[in-house]
Amino acid sequence: MTLPKHVRIVEVGPRDGLQNEKQPIDAATKISLVERLADAGVAHIEAGSFVNPKWVPQMAGSDEILSNINRKSGVVYSALTPNIQGFGRAVLTNTDEVAIFTAASEAFTQKNINCSIAESIERFEPIMAEAKARNLKVRCYVSTAFGCPYEGYVDPVKAAEVAKQLYDMGCYEVSISDTTGVATPESTRRVLEECLKLIPVEHLAVHMHDTYGQALANILVALQMGISVVDSSVSGLGGCPYAKGASGNVATEDVVYMLNGMGIETGIDLDKLIQAGDYICQQLNRDNGSKVAKAILSKQ
Ligand code: HMG
Ligand code: MG
Repeated sequence: MTLPKHVRIVEVGPRDGLQNEKQPIDAATKISLVERLADAGVAHIEAGSFVNPKWVPQMAGSDEILSNINRKSGVVYSALTPNIQGFGRAVLTNTDEVAIFTAASEAFTQKNINCSIAESIERFEPIMAEAKARNLKVRCYVSTAFGCPYEGYVDPVKAAEVAKQLYDMGCYEVSISDTTGVATPESTRRVLEECLKLIPVEHLAVHMHDTYGQALANILVALQMGISVVDSSVSGLGGCPYAKGASGNVATEDVVYMLNGMGIETGIDLDKLIQAGDYICQQLNRDNGSKVAKAILSKQ
């Protein structure tokens, strides 16, 4: 078992986290969160989502956010683009990198992006072509890879096949996603084993929601299998608007604390990260979803 020496954290709080918040959040607060995260050393921040604003109103202002962030050199500011219309918005705002997303189950794909898995792949083709022409990197997500809120069990082979399709289209990284946090270490191993048969390990990431409190254990399994890219959300913000009851992603603070303890580098300053999480929780008047942040803040 060789653990990675360095893990790249993809901070999805400003997108996956905030997309689910019902209360209005002004652009200045969102921008400040992104800038605080960059200041804490987070090198990849998913800062917005160019989806249909009628579907996810909280992300409607992503154009303003991506256009007005005071960008730190070396940091990637990315956003979701479900179709070519969204990709056009990303280009206009100089988004560094985009992410496309589909799922391993048909029912979730219909609810989330209003089409079948096959149709979603067709929709991505013009995005991939445009991105290539513009030299923009494309990341991708396979939702419901470990289970679907509508269909239940998802065959790990199916999850891996969808991941492979996206990889073959030219996505540089495939984030295998546990949308509703149902995975356990054993199912994590099973799904990732299938993915690793089809995709080189350096092109895989994991995206674990923590609904059932299993995310850190699942991430440990992924690390043991050689995966070195982990998606997480500061203070455990978030959920998914099309997966009822799904709680936030694993908290970035908790992942960084675990990695620090294992001697794995992330380049992130945990204290500054905790301050960024505390900032957004105070702005939203929300309980901090990171156990590490709570423990450390309670001592201050
Ligand atoms: P649709 O309504 O089927 O699209 O949406 P349409 O092509 O029929 O267009 C309908 C209207 O939407 C038109 O406007 C379009 O202009 C507009 P109208 O003529 O009615 O005035 N429209 C857009 N406007 C702005 N930006 C766009 C855009 N596209 C269409 N990009 C669509 C299809 C995919 C766009 C829609 O279903 C959608 O936005 N879905 C996104 C749902 C979403 O954001 N879900 C959460 C993110 S995914 C997630 O959280 C999972 C992840 O974290 C991994 C995991 O945890 O599993 C990534
Ligand atoms: Mg998610």
